Amino acid sequence: MTQTETPSEPIVVHSRADYCAARAQLTGTTALVMTMGALHDGHLELVRQAQRHADHVIVTIFVNPTQFAPGEDFDAYPRTLDADLAALSTVGADLVWAPQPHDVYPTQPLITLDPGPVGRHLEGASRPTHFAGVALVVTKVINLTDPDVALFGEKDAQQLAVIRTFVRDLDMPVRIIGVPIVRDVDGVALSSRNQYLSTTERLRARSLSQGLEAGAEAAAQGGSPNRILSAARAVLEATEGVDIDYVALVDETTFAPLDEAAVPTDTPVAARLLIAAKVGHTRLIDNAAITLGAPQ
Ligand code: PAJ
Repeated sequence: MTQTETPSEPIVVHSRADYCAARAQLTGTTALVMTMGALHDGHLELVRQAQRHADHVIVTIFVNPTQFAPGEDFDAYPRTLDADLAALSTVGADLVWAPQPHDVYPTQPLITLDPGPVGRHLEGASRPTHFAGVALVVTKVINLTDPDVALFGEKDAQQLAVIRTFVRDLDMPVRIIGVPIVRDVDGVALSSRNQYLSTTERLRARSLSQGLEAGAEAAAQGGSPNRILSAARAVLEATEGVDIDYVALVDETTFAPLDEAAVPTDTPVAARLLIAAKVGHTRLIDNAAITLGAPQ
């Protein structure tokens, strides 16, 4: 689509057969944006960026059961298909696939993908089966779509790192593009799970991005990893009703934890500061790129 055209209604399909038939009709290059729905401006930004990379944008809306553990919020996860389609028609997706679980998993999958060391700690430690489910669904949808590029948000930075790793290791013929986090005016990262927050909790949720800012400031002042981590932690600890799961500093590419010993002092290191915390019953994640050892 060119800049001057008005976005049009996407083609919407549900069954696997209809999706494959609609996909086959698209000629030219394609960009894939995978979502679980309950779309917000963060998702829509992925679609906008996708348009710059391909002739057609394909969006999937699927709450993937294999990435939720028993007791997580699979059943409660917001499902707002009509609103999602209305939102997508404003940004110009070409094809939307909103399948049911049996369309994506016509047979019970017998293969499991081990996301490897990148996915084992942090989110992988808190949710041990999560990244295997993400790896499975992303691999299947990429195989069914054959896109030239696929876009994922930095909001889920570890997910993006896991995806980049298995796409590289399995020689999957797709280019992965990361998209920066879209935030609300008060700094809170947009998330479908923000809908679970009460008014008070929504205010408390600001502590995640404020913690990241405090960490970034400590880094800009040449602070050590420990100083950066404790600056971020202090903000969260000072906020009532916020229960820290982790505050971590990792290498941007390998996601290996950065501790004092591992960080060279002479060359800048691209790192990511990550926070996961429960605000009430809602588990939120956020992160920021940080440069360690940056010249003042
Ligand atoms: P979901 O949480 O719906 O997110 C879909 C995509 O939108 C992901 O790539 C996520 O990182 C991106 N995203 C979410 N909030 C964002 C924000 N505030 N700014 C920028 N990007 C944002 O992530 C998943 O779904 C699933 O795990 C999925 C990849 C679809 C596999 O089931």
